[in-house]
Amino acid sequence: MLKLDIKTSSNYTVTIDNSLNSFNEAVMPIIAGKKIAVICDENAKKLHIKGLKKALKGQNCYFITVKSGENSKSSKNYISLVEKLASLSFTRSDCVITFGGGVVGDLGALVASTYLRGITLVAMPTTLLSAVDSSVGGKTAINLKQGKNLLGTFYQPKAVYINTEYLQTLPNRELLSGYGEIIKYAFIDASVNYYDVKYGNYETLIYKCLKIKNAVVSKDEKEGGLRKILNLGHTFGHAIESLSSYSISHGECVVKGIKLAIELSKSLYNLDAQKVEEMYNLLTVKGHNLDVDFKMEDVIKQIYNDKKRQKNSISFIAVKDIGKVEIENILIENLTF
Ligand SMILES: NC(=O)c1ccc[n+]([C@@H]2O[C@H](COP(=O)([O-])OP(=O)(O)OC[C@H]3O[C@@H](n4cnc5c(N)ncnc54)[C@H](O)[C@@H]3O)[C@@H](O)[C@H]2O)c1
Ligand SMILES: [Zn+2]
Repeated sequence: MLKLDIKTSSNYTVTIDNSLNSFNEAVMPIIAGKKIAVICDENAKKLHIKGLKKALKGQNCYFITVKSGENSKSSKNYISLVEKLASLSFTRSDCVITFGGGVVGDLGALVASTYLRGITLVAMPTTLLSAVDSSVGGKTAINLKQGKNLLGTFYQPKAVYINTEYLQTLPNRELLSGYGEIIKYAFIDASVNYYDVKYGNYETLIYKCLKIKNAVVSKDEKEGGLRKILNLGHTFGHAIESLSSYSISHGECVVKGIKLAIELSKSLYNLDAQKVEEMYNLLTVKGHNLDVDFKMEDVIKQIYNDKKRQKNSISFIAVKDIGKVEIENILIENLTF
């Protein structure tokens, strides 16, 4: 079992274990005696709720299921969840546990952060992506019909509990998605290296990635500057994700996005061929496909829709070396390949 203390506007601990053995010690003191709404992803519930129900035995729990998929991060679900809490007479001293991937994590956290102006939140991420990324950092969100993640808050949980046993049932696509973000961390900070990504066990790998995320977020919780480096690969990645109509997973698109970031960085920093090869080896260590099956002009057109765009330029995260990235402001018209 590993523990990581997260330092933000409010501090909390992430517990990473390969079972629910430390749940009692890590989470119970925060939730005991409260009414608990467990907002569950339908697949995570089907596969893993039995153990959690046992761990929560004797508590006043309501299990609420949310359909799997990005469409669930909707205003309709958001309103229906807060109304559910109201109809169950949840008070300020009650709490929400999110049990699922980033979809349920983002949605449930927005519910917890806004219901009665904020009630206790505990996150239990069940996908690799949510374990290494979305469960820490305090961003909550739902999608509007005008775009993804347009409505949200910054809100920190009181605890995050990661049971890596849950990751055993993830389909390959979801594993590749999570590993895409892990590879991103390896490009940002050399404390996660090629061998960690290739051979590392989940507990250690998640711990190391979250340590990197925490180091960044604790210095810039609301993305004024430094936090932008966590968007490495995301400007291009989001464009590809959207052009593929979300048929390619987020993390796989991030890896393709990092590949394009490397292509641009080659000329920015005169990277030598051996260095670039080393970068490509890291990008493909888990078998990610680097092909971009769209015209670059379409990818760039799509970038015009990026919410992080400022007029005609974007904050682009470039790669100087493995473990060293830079924020570069670049004119979109200069994005040439
Ligand atoms: N808040 C943040 O900082 C942040 C960061 C990155 C991504 N996100 C958001 O996270 C979301 C993506 O998260 P995700 O990749 O976890 O997707 P997800 O929540 O859709 O989960 C992926 C799939 O895995 C299934 N699943 C969940 N746990 C499982 C398990 N243990 N075994 C088998 N199947 C399981 C789900 O039902 C779903 O089909 C996006 O909406 C994205 O915007 C948020
Ligand atoms: Zn991402």
